[in-house]
Amino acid sequence: MSNRNMYLVTVPAGFESEAKEEIRGLAPNACVRNLFFKGNLLVECPRSVDLSSIAETNETVYVGKIFPIDKVVKISKSRESIAYIHDEIVQLDKLRKGERFVVRCRRRGKHEFTSQDVERELGSMLEKSCGALADLRNPQKIVTVQIFQNKALIGVSEASKIVEKKIKVFKKYKHGERPLTRAEHKIREAIKIFGLEIKRDFRVLDLGAAPGGWTKVLASLAGKVVAVDPADLNSSVKALPNVTYLKCKAEEIPKNIGRFDLIVNDMNLDPSESARIMVNLAGFLKKGAPALMTIKFVTRNRKKHIAEALEILKAEYKDFKVKRLPHNRYETTVFMRKA
Ligand SMILES: C[S@@+](CC[C@H](N)C(=O)[O-])C[C@H]1O[C@@H](n2cnc3c(N)ncnc32)[C@H](O)[C@@H]1O
Repeated sequence: MSNRNMYLVTVPAGFESEAKEEIRGLAPNACVRNLFFKGNLLVECPRSVDLSSIAETNETVYVGKIFPIDKVVKISKSRESIAYIHDEIVQLDKLRKGERFVVRCRRRGKHEFTSQDVERELGSMLEKSCGALADLRNPQKIVTVQIFQNKALIGVSEASKIVEKKIKVFKKYKHGERPLTRAEHKIREAIKIFGLEIKRDFRVLDLGAAPGGWTKVLASLAGKVVAVDPADLNSSVKALPNVTYLKCKAEEIPKNIGRFDLIVNDMNLDPSESARIMVNLAGFLKKGAPALMTIKFVTRNRKKHIAEALEILKAEYKDFKVKRLPHNRYETTVFMRKA
């Protein structure tokens, strides 16, 4: 048996960072991770910590439902996964003969079966294999099956351990205060964490600028921002007097565009490709001037993406600092200077 308690916690999408902090406040030794689908966190606590009870007895804002999880198993999209999940649940040996139970499934992703198929088929399989009694109205135990594409989080717990709390936030910002993108937080974090000084007379080149979160923040600090993106820049950002919008790819920037005091790059490209563009555009940047780039983790091999990008960037840049910022999701941020 694992020496950790595992939970799936649902939280309001977009508030994952705040929810993580809240959960760490409730269970200080908890390890809290984002799942690939927004609004879902996987929490691991020491065996002695019962997150369901703690969350139930404490005031919370971001915690929604809490499902105790016994195991995470790999599944395919085929219907055979239901029998496989059944076998895994039987192996847990937590459902006894005569116990009243219900299967609750939530499925995310594409599969050849529905959540209802899982609830129905798994329910009747477990009745046969464990001698337990399916009871939708008054179950003693809940069999949880939470599917995230090729992962099934499974658990068998007392019904009272599935906690459902009222989420107390719905809107993050007051009318008019909402950032254009989560990216706005990212650029603010990067400026702070890397100690980036942006002066009033700076000319900034913003690559992959749309919809315009970074441009908006940069335009409030610098003298001039040239925002480059084939996608549309938000009209309110486009209208800012010190923003020039080039509706083109970074590879198509005109040669006579002038020199810059800062280049930032949030293009959603393969990191090596993005790094090559940074190298090709380095001539626009003054010597020693700073640059920022997000490295998008297009695969799970994060270290490889960082290493490959830095290897390419080395041709024109130096003083690298790599930092995963709180608002970086499937990416990390690199600070560097023109060599
Ligand atoms: C994550 S979004 C950028 C968000 C932006 N930083 C903000 O604050 O709103 C990535 C952008 O990169 C742009 N992009 C992708 N390839 C590009 C290229 N070769 N040149 C310029 N922009 C590119 C996409 O059109 C997309 O708008």
